[in-house]
Amino acid sequence: MIRVGLIGFGTVGGGVYERLLHTKKQIKQLLKNEIEISAILVKDRQKRRAENVDTFVTTSWDEFCERAEFDVIFEAIGGIEPAFTYTARWLEKGVPVISANKKLVAERGEILEHLAVDHCTYYGYEAAVAGGIPIINSLKGNLTTTPITRVSGILNGTTNYMLTEMIENHRSFTEVLLEAQELGYAEADPTDDIEGFDAWYKIRILSRLCFGTWPSVTSFFRKGVANIEDWHVEVGERLGFKVKLIAEAWRSDLGVKGRVTPAFLSPTEPLANVRGVTNGISLEGDFVDQLLFLGPGAGKEATANSMVEDFIFHERTTNAIRVTKEGKREQAESCIHSFVF
Ligand code: NAP
Ligand code: HSE
Repeated sequence: MIRVGLIGFGTVGGGVYERLLHTKKQIKQLLKNEIEISAILVKDRQKRRAENVDTFVTTSWDEFCERAEFDVIFEAIGGIEPAFTYTARWLEKGVPVISANKKLVAERGEILEHLAVDHCTYYGYEAAVAGGIPIINSLKGNLTTTPITRVSGILNGTTNYMLTEMIENHRSFTEVLLEAQELGYAEADPTDDIEGFDAWYKIRILSRLCFGTWPSVTSFFRKGVANIEDWHVEVGERLGFKVKLIAEAWRSDLGVKGRVTPAFLSPTEPLANVRGVTNGISLEGDFVDQLLFLGPGAGKEATANSMVEDFIFHERTTNAIRVTKEGKREQAESCIHSFVF
């Protein structure tokens, strides 16, 4: 039995719950083990929950921890605390933690990754950057020796959705922000989206994977879309440019630099045509020239998909059978997928 602990049961946590139930059979086939969602931790005791939730739900951390010896934790509450304490607690027990929390990963990821390595387990954060696009495990898995010189992208679904609606349908900033919140795209505090913090966390995470070290916060500039006015968009359109919130990081002689800022893009640039809640990422580097990734950047299903796949990827990697030089089949080392550059 794989006993799952779910921390947070909002847009993303609810999505993980549904996705795990939906994939139960496949998981059993792949991992040779049955999934059981053993407990869910939430904050608000009064909130109405879906009636068909057939799992123990609590607002007490102690009760949650005592409920089961979990085999995996999915963290989807957001913010630094208590998410950091909760994550560290389970990693220290050797339990893998799968997170969608880009703020926590950007600000405390270095500590949490070391904890995971020290306790021979996994801190997975595929869903923390670009929702449904499997960029993190591509960078960790298939691009580890590819020298990347620049990473750029549209990394915030909420603001890209807003800009698209404002430009194409002439809707107001406030109206489309409300809609993005209703659709479950925006952060609990949407200031994180519109002031560029969300994209700033994400580009720092990508930078760490592309360039090998956690970047210093001060070398990453941040400006969001809060000050964009209708006439900026109109002038851009008349001149044939698209306004986009672009996050980028690159190697320079002075080290790794980065920024998040609204930009006018010429329509020939691939990111100019990324519309709605879609995110786009461009990797430039030796051997590959340019790699482009496109996909849903936010929302319940896409994010939950990334979290569940992250877990399955980890389980399959750690439990993989490898063939030795002598042709003997043996269990791969359990630490194989925990790493620090
Ligand atoms: P959400 O809908 O606001 O849900 C948050 C959940 O966490 C709620 O169930 C809430 O409990 C619970 N919670 C909050 N603080 C808690 C605490 N101190 N103790 C216990 N439970 C607590 O947020 P969300 O959109 O699912 O986002 C969750 C995380 O995923 C964030 O890190 C976000 O950045 C990330 N993310 C979101 C998306 C997206 O499209 N929404 C995509 C990628 C990543 P109650 O239900 O009782 O309020
Ligand atoms: N608020 C975030 C966004 C959620 O709109 O991109 C996905 O990380």
